[in-house]
Amino acid sequence: MCGIIGVIGNGPAAPLLVDGLKRLEYRGYDSAGIATIANGKIARRRSEGKIARLEAVLENEPLEGNVGIGHTRWATHGAPTTVNAHPHATDRVAIVHNGIIENFQRLRDELTAAGCRFETDTDTEVVAHLITRNLEDGMPPREATAAALERLEGAFALGILFTGEDGLIIGARRGSPLAIGYGDGEMFLGSDALALAPLTRRIAYLEEGDLVALTRDGAVVHDAAGRVAMREIHLTEQSGAAVGKGNYGHFMLKEIYEQPTVIGDTLSSFYHPVSGDVRLPELPFDLGRLPKITIAACGTAYYAGLIARYWLEKIARVPVDIDIASEFRYRDAPMPEGGLALFISQSGETADTLAALRFCRKQGQHIASLLNVAESTMARESDIVLRTLAGPEIGVCSTKAFTTQLVALACFTLACARARDAISHDEEARLSAARAEVPSRAAEVLNHDERLQELAREIARAETVIYIGRGTGFAIALEGALKLKEISYIHAEGFAAGELKHGPIALVDEGVPVVVIAPSDSLFEKTASNMEEVIARGAHVVFLSDAAGVAALGDRAATVIELPTVDPFVAPILYAIPVQLLAYHVAVIRGTDIDQPRNLAKSVTVE
Ligand code: G6P
Repeated sequence: MCGIIGVIGNGPAAPLLVDGLKRLEYRGYDSAGIATIANGKIARRRSEGKIARLEAVLENEPLEGNVGIGHTRWATHGAPTTVNAHPHATDRVAIVHNGIIENFQRLRDELTAAGCRFETDTDTEVVAHLITRNLEDGMPPREATAAALERLEGAFALGILFTGEDGLIIGARRGSPLAIGYGDGEMFLGSDALALAPLTRRIAYLEEGDLVALTRDGAVVHDAAGRVAMREIHLTEQSGAAVGKGNYGHFMLKEIYEQPTVIGDTLSSFYHPVSGDVRLPELPFDLGRLPKITIAACGTAYYAGLIARYWLEKIARVPVDIDIASEFRYRDAPMPEGGLALFISQSGETADTLAALRFCRKQGQHIASLLNVAESTMARESDIVLRTLAGPEIGVCSTKAFTTQLVALACFTLACARARDAISHDEEARLSAARAEVPSRAAEVLNHDERLQELAREIARAETVIYIGRGTGFAIALEGALKLKEISYIHAEGFAAGELKHGPIALVDEGVPVVVIAPSDSLFEKTASNMEEVIARGAHVVFLSDAAGVAALGDRAATVIELPTVDPFVAPILYAIPVQLLAYHVAVIRGTDIDQPRNLAKSVTVE
């Protein structure tokens, strides 16, 4: 995480850097800073907190210079203070960094013994000192940087300024993403195309191990072996327009309300308009002969994968292994020849998911990714890309990315089921009809907003909230608890309803809210028994079910939310929405920073 930006232009660099940082704020927002070369010297302004605070600093103490670098931070090493904010500098260089230098302590000890004085607790500062020492030994900037990078272990995207050089920025990447932008007599560097889009649409992505020297005239890239390399220039799809909140108080609420539309868009993109069949991108493997599908993802995307496992196993009869990406690769799981590895990610940049992808590539698996950001590292490293058409998701708390992932995975399941002859025509027609009604049913669910807002008043007072469900409802219980803790900071846990009695039920006491995810499916009766168990222990039950479920058990719960009656296949897509709204309204009552909750970032590019 952390976002970096660099500008070599002909006008003042500072306003462009700050604007770019605002577009990168989703990557981290605990401190920010910029540096420029003014009159041949490095000048810096930094601030803890959000970019608005950096702007206030710049208003009092503006920064001159036409070349500069900027950074918005998500702290790894060192508290989020102004001193630890990037850019880090010596008298020769200023540097911004996204990633983690894993051997920094060893390098720091060595540099300290050689007389370097460190000002910060960060891992990044060692890079500034290593380059400085090489410059002092007479190396030119590019060579000094390349030699310093050879000493580093870990992941980085870097942007570097040099004293006396007001027409040069050096960038480098290993592990963390970095793009270069081509302007007219100007050049740019950025963590992603979104940051660069208002400056230029002509973008090239650096590859692993690349080092680039940017001047006003262009870019010279050296690859990992030190050879001059060409990197293709693309016209980015990203819009330069800033994404707004419209009439909504928060991006999260706007994104929740966009769901009927973006679910519909994603669904249509997977349908053949004439035949009505599922349409996937051309596949370099036969879906019908896959021995196994392995899914890895993080956070909310992992929960989408959990639901897909139920679908793929039950409907398409294909064995599925799924794990959290940060755990998966260390299990060293045996993988069958010709298997498919599927990675789910909104951003396409999550470091753990990317590492899992690369691991599976080495194991000879076919690589598929389900992504919202088409121009991302995972997209470039996959054999096939399935897209969610959620549009930019700005709120850190994932909402529309999740439900569109589910829609795409539902379509993928039906394609697998047909390819494997696992499903009859009638059954396929029934499930396709269920899928087609999701956008309108999702719009109906939004009608419960006011009711959920009322319920939020009670939940906002709770110390612990429990979510339970079975089958795909279990994954929604996990997702509901994650939403609540992420933005309201209330302790929340999701449990498989059947597992309650093996420990978690000890948490249930008089008045503890238990949200029960209970569409009337084949597991309804069993979930109902678990609901009775918590009622018997004084829980305040919030019952999410449909007309049949409410008719059977509605009078047993303290609060009832009646959702539309749909085929159980698509129920998890709809049941995701009330748990999002509930978390949102609780967070509003508690006055938290909903779109940028504490300690979190939207895109996590460190392991
Ligand atoms: C972060 C976000 C989560 C997200 C997870 C995976 O933790 O805060 O909302 O689910 O990363 O992100 P991805 O971009 O890979 O879906």
